[in-house]
Amino acid sequence: MAAFFGDNQFKFGLFGINCAGGMTPSRAPERWRADWDEMVAVAKLVDDAGVEFMLPIAKWHGLGGEADMWGRSFETFTQAGALGALTKRTGLFVTAHVSLITAAFAAKAIATVDHATHGRAGLNIVCGWNPDEFSPHGITLDGGNRYERGLEWFEIYDKLLEGGPKFDWKGRFYDLQGLVTDPLPVQRPRPPVMSAAQSGDGQAFAARAADILFTSLQSLDVARDTVTRFKALAATHGRKPDVYVETQFVCKPTCKEALEYAHYYAVEMADPDALAYFARQKARTMSISTKTGDTAADRQLADTLSGARKQPYPGMFAGMYPVIGSPDDVVEELKKISAIGVAGSTLVFLNYLRELPYFIQEVFPRMERAGLRMKVAA
Ligand SMILES: Cc1cc2nc3c(=O)[nH]c(=O)nc-3n(C[C@H](O)[C@H](O)[C@H](O)COP(=O)(O)O)c2cc1C
Repeated sequence: MAAFFGDNQFKFGLFGINCAGGMTPSRAPERWRADWDEMVAVAKLVDDAGVEFMLPIAKWHGLGGEADMWGRSFETFTQAGALGALTKRTGLFVTAHVSLITAAFAAKAIATVDHATHGRAGLNIVCGWNPDEFSPHGITLDGGNRYERGLEWFEIYDKLLEGGPKFDWKGRFYDLQGLVTDPLPVQRPRPPVMSAAQSGDGQAFAARAADILFTSLQSLDVARDTVTRFKALAATHGRKPDVYVETQFVCKPTCKEALEYAHYYAVEMADPDALAYFARQKARTMSISTKTGDTAADRQLADTLSGARKQPYPGMFAGMYPVIGSPDDVVEELKKISAIGVAGSTLVFLNYLRELPYFIQEVFPRMERAGLRMKVAA
């Protein structure tokens, strides 16, 4: 299974509109507030522009600080059902936390979204990183075995979607009886599965379970290494997943304006308390491969969490690659990112509704001329 979402050389996934703050830990007053009507307006914009999919974040706890980023968030399965009814072609991912959502629930819910959208659903499986998100549910997150548990969860989910007769499951983490689901999703053998991870352990999980690995992009060299390693690992399981990376855009008519705006919201207005909390919580559940520095990505992540690696723009997350400049500059950078072998990246802005129209108007036609995207059919 490869090359989801059509033939564009470089695909986009709109990321994080269901949460206040989106993906930007900034105190800037014009930051994203996750107002429902604004969210719908953005969903329609990207749908018309041919953006391949939308990816929400499953969140149960804010980051604190002045802005309390993610303190307000819409639930992702129900949001996808609603946005699916208001859009025509964009893919709609939902995000399931393995320890909060049962495989049987996920199978039924994804089938619901897939039928409602005539085959546009996708599932992002996340194994969790912030213990504070699990305590409201009475669950303790175990960082050490989260991916083993995730793999067993995926195997149950996958078997359910095969659509065979009722079965029981007895494994290391789950002891379940009478598993069966009807209806099956429209997409066969199943809607695309995404796994978002940076660590070597997370990549190993994705190589077994995912059709798409979504990973961070701190530097082009490390990302190139990740793509090569990951694709080779997946091939040993007979699989050919796509790789996507995280990018955040600041695009203005001139490079000077873009740099000034990025400096304003992601340096001057960065939310230090939220960022400190984020790093603290991530460190609490660090993957084993990150502790032992297995891959270049693990070593980079460990350096970021320990503070040894400094961010030029602290008000953008460490794994979020800043693409800053004029429309021409942005396309030049996207060509370099595409050349490392990724299928696409995230569309992230401080304020999606203010910044996307200019981006779509100026960057998309340039990408078409550069062969990265094709014109959208009317
Ligand atoms: C594109 C992307 C989307 C993610 N979405 C979520 C999410 O919705 N909810 C969540 O709790 N974690 C989310 N994560 C976090 C990852 O699932 C994972 O827990 C985190 O990357 C730490 O794992 P690692 O250190 O093993 O890579 C996301 C990460 C990425 C890169």
